[in-house]
Amino acid sequence: MAISITPLHPLFGAEIGRVDVGAPLDDATFAAIRAALDDYSLLVFHDQSLDDDRQVAFSRRFGPLEKTISANATGGTHFARQSNLDVGTGAVIPPEDRRMVYQKGNQLWHTDSSFKPVPALCSLLSGRVVPPEGGDTGFASARAAYDALPEAMKRRIEGLVAEHSLGYSRGLIGPDVLTETQKQEVPAVRQVVVRTNPVNGRKAIYAGAHASHIVGLPIEEGRALLRELNDFITQPRFCYSHRWRQGDLVIWDNRCLLHRATPYDTVRHQRLMQRTTVAGDAPTVA
Ligand code: OGA
Ligand code: MN
Repeated sequence: MAISITPLHPLFGAEIGRVDVGAPLDDATFAAIRAALDDYSLLVFHDQSLDDDRQVAFSRRFGPLEKTISANATGGTHFARQSNLDVGTGAVIPPEDRRMVYQKGNQLWHTDSSFKPVPALCSLLSGRVVPPEGGDTGFASARAAYDALPEAMKRRIEGLVAEHSLGYSRGLIGPDVLTETQKQEVPAVRQVVVRTNPVNGRKAIYAGAHASHIVGLPIEEGRALLRELNDFITQPRFCYSHRWRQGDLVIWDNRCLLHRATPYDTVRHQRLMQRTTVAGDAPTVA
């Protein structure tokens, strides 16, 4: 039976039904999912039977996986673990622990791995333990936002290049969120500000919290432009918020969406999400 595709929002996002990606998938089914990602940018699957091995196996069908940077590698080589539970003991991690402070950075609107020379294609986030309230994930379509930009702004940003850096974005949370070694692991990189999807030609603004400034503009001027773009993308009309259910898998296209975590009571509730990240195939800047 073919998968079902039910739109979640007028501009982006779809719920995919009649499939368990934890089970082996034939090529036609995978191709339909891959095509839906280009069309809808955000895919939500309920009641999935994923464990770590099955998640890696399914994620690899999209392409090679990123290796997790050391600042967030507690979940294993290919996982970013978004959780308040210690990986060894399962005990709740106190809010002031640096692992929790690091995760605060996810509450800024961002796109995963834009601070890497080859930024990510997509992320797959699997809801293993879901808090009873809070901890929703917000998504904003930078593709729908691009379409809605005034023509003068489209012309202004065409061809611009931004510098992205994890040191910059985590620096917004606090001065010591990354250790010196962790900072050296992720030197600043350059990314185009307008990206085009190679399959359907749709353009998207590429910004988010890791974007620090614009190459060739005074720092404050570039920062103001990026702030304006991020504020434009994250207007409520371009946003969709995902309320998690245990067993959900959410896949998002990092080329054209911003996303953010939202707070939950990390002392009283438990949350465990495992993220795999599919690498992109080339730098965005020649
Ligand atoms: C991520 C992320 C948000 C969340 O996994 O990349 O930003 O709600 N997660 O956990
Ligand atoms: Mn993220």
